Amino acid sequence: MAFPVTRMRRMRATEALRSLARETHLEPSQFIYPLFVCEGEGIRKEILSMPGNAQQSVDKIVEECRELYSLGIGGTILFGIPDYKDEEASGAYDDNGVVQRAIRAIKREVPQLLVMTDVCNCEYTSHGHCGKIVNGDVDNDVTLGWLAASAVSHAKAGADIVAPSDMMDGRVGAIRKELDTNGFQNVPVLSYAAKYASAFYGPFREAAESTPQFGDRRSYQMDSANSREAMREIELDLAEGADMIMVKPALPYLDIIRAARDRFDVPIAAYQVSGEFSMLHAAARNGWIDLERAMLETLTSIRRAGANIVLTYFSKEAARLLG
Ligand code: PBG
Repeated sequence: MAFPVTRMRRMRATEALRSLARETHLEPSQFIYPLFVCEGEGIRKEILSMPGNAQQSVDKIVEECRELYSLGIGGTILFGIPDYKDEEASGAYDDNGVVQRAIRAIKREVPQLLVMTDVCNCEYTSHGHCGKIVNGDVDNDVTLGWLAASAVSHAKAGADIVAPSDMMDGRVGAIRKELDTNGFQNVPVLSYAAKYASAFYGPFREAAESTPQFGDRRSYQMDSANSREAMREIELDLAEGADMIMVKPALPYLDIIRAARDRFDVPIAAYQVSGEFSMLHAAARNGWIDLERAMLETLTSIRRAGANIVLTYFSKEAARLLG
C-alpha cells in the first residue's frame, strides 16, 4: 500500500511513537571506557587532544573506576604508560608493571567493575613498535612470546578479559595456550581481529606515548581498503580460540562491523578510537556540530551496524545522558 494510505511520518510524530519504533538502543553496560595508567601518585595529566581524558596514576585510576561502576558502565580497558621503555618491552610482562598494579588496585577497591587489558608492546618499547625489531621489521614469532607473557601477567593480577591489539599472526593461539597452561582457562580473549592501519589513532599515540620512532604499522595492521581480508582475520582468530572479536576503528569501518555481524555468531566489539572522539570535540569547539547529539548518533550507528560492545572515550558522558 503506497501513499496516501501509507505515511511514514505517522510513526515519527511524537517522541513516544518514535521510541516505540526505535530499533537500536544504547545502554551504559555496552560501553567500555579506556584508561591510561602512568607511574606516580596523585597524578592526573590531561591529554590535550582528547578533552576530559588523562594519564593517571593508579590511585586516580581507582577513583575513576568507582565512577565508572556507579554510572553502570560495562568496564574499563587499561593502557600502560611506563616511565621506562626498552627494546624488549619488558614493562609489558613485568608482574609489577604499571598496568598490573592498576588491575590489582581496581580489583581490591572496585571488584565488581570489569577490567580488560590491552595486550600490546608499543607503549613499552623504546622504538614504539608493537614487537621485537629484527632487520628493521617487527618479528612475528618472537613477539608472540612477549604477548603471551603479558596476557598471563595481566590475568595473574586479576584481569577479567585480555585484548591483544598488536596484529601479530598466531597471537590468539599463543595467548590462549599460555593462559591455559597457567591455570587461566576461564579468562576470555577479546581479539582486535580487524584492526586497520589508521590515521585516526593520532591522538592516542600522543596519549600513550607510543608513536613509532621510525616507519609505520602497515606491515602488521590491515590495509583500510580491505574487507574480505577482515573476514579471514576474524575466522583465523576464532579458530585460535578468540571468545570475542573487535573491529577498529569504528565509524569509518561500519561495513566491516556489519559483515562480521552477519557472518559470525560471537560478541562483536567496535573501538571508537581517539581520532573519532577528538574530531567531534574539535568540530563542537568551533560551534560546527552539537557534541551531545553527534556523540549519541555515532554510538547508535556503531550499535546499529551490529556491535554489541563499544569501546569509547564518550562512555561517561553518554552514560550520564542516557541516565
Ligand atoms: C596499541 C593500540 C593503539 C590503539 C589501541 N591499542 C594504537 C595503535 O595501534 O597505534 C588506538 C586507540 C585509539 O586511537 O583510541 N597497539
